[in-house]
Amino acid sequence: MPVISVGLPLRSDGQRSGAVFLHAPVFGVRFALGQIYRLIGVAALAAAVLALGLSLWLSRRLSRPLHEMSEAARELARGRFDRRVSPPAGDDEIARLAASFNHMAARLGNLERLRREFIANVSHELRSPLTSMRGFLQGILDGTIPAGDRERYLRLAFDETRRLSRLVNDLLDLAALEAGDVRFTFADVDPAEALRRVATKMEPQASAKGLSLTVDPPPPATGPVRADPDRLEQVLINLVDNAVRFTPEGGAVTLSARRQDGAVEITVRDTGPGIPPEDLDRIWERFYKGDRARTRSKGGTGLGLAIARELVERQGGTIRAESQVGAGTAFFVTLPAGGAPA
Ligand SMILES: Nc1ncnc2c1ncn2[C@@H]1O[C@H](COP(=O)(O)OP(=O)(O)OP(=O)(O)O)[C@@H](O)[C@H]1O
Ligand SMILES: [Mg+2]
Repeated sequence: MPVISVGLPLRSDGQRSGAVFLHAPVFGVRFALGQIYRLIGVAALAAAVLALGLSLWLSRRLSRPLHEMSEAARELARGRFDRRVSPPAGDDEIARLAASFNHMAARLGNLERLRREFIANVSHELRSPLTSMRGFLQGILDGTIPAGDRERYLRLAFDETRRLSRLVNDLLDLAALEAGDVRFTFADVDPAEALRRVATKMEPQASAKGLSLTVDPPPPATGPVRADPDRLEQVLINLVDNAVRFTPEGGAVTLSARRQDGAVEITVRDTGPGIPPEDLDRIWERFYKGDRARTRSKGGTGLGLAIARELVERQGGTIRAESQVGAGTAFFVTLPAGGAPA
């Protein structure tokens, strides 16, 4: 019978005085080992079952929302911007991913809405001049408009073509600004000088309406502003053009500038009808025209202030409006001061 033996020497006073031997039959050890192997086997099986269950649960928890998201992404791509995914419970990566996905879908939906509105607005703005031009030309061609009136109607049609090209130019300007295609050439600009130039350019329009257009000489010198001279002039002309168009006869438009900490504030103030408080935030939107019935006859397209704001912000400045119905409106353009940096 096979045995396992273990021997241990015994020592006393540094001398080997004997030894102990232990003998155990091998089958006893095998029996104990067998029990250990069985235990390990059962534990491994249990662990494998548990791991399998856990990974199934995890993969289902992960893959279901991911699957739903890829479905939703496909629908978004097909233009269904109202599609959302149901956010899984908890605050793990998957839940955060689902929340971001929904946020993205909402933003895309919003962009799509803006795009549709934009196209509707552009089409509307194109349609009205085209319709009236067609009417005038048809009247001339088929003789409904008497020969004596023809020139007047041709002139009206010509004005409409001017309106159309202005609209298209404004749209191109805005698109270029938004695409970042507009280069700014910064220089130190004397605000008083810029205001005088704008006043000279707009004077004919103002006096034709019986308006006074004056530049307040800034008492303490404001010093220069840092801006693109042409773009700054474009902004100021937009503002003065509005002031002149909306202010009734006998009113006044005043331009001024003053130093404010590290910036210069340029003001265009009129004694016009003012803007109701509920409209004051909306005037910066493209195509926004306060009272449509009133402004339609004034020929605007509602892009002037959207362009002005974009231009000012791209030059590192801010633009805002203050208004009181019945008393007038003031637009403030604030730009960084120029000159050598202190
Ligand atoms: N000085 C002002 N006084 C009263 N209302 C104003 C004044 N400036 C702007 N608004 C209002 O804000 C709206 C938007 O102005 P904006 O310059 O963007 O468009 P617009 O002048 O109508 O058209 P555009 O400038 O494209 O020719 C105007 O239609 C008008 O209702
Ligand atoms: Mg305008």
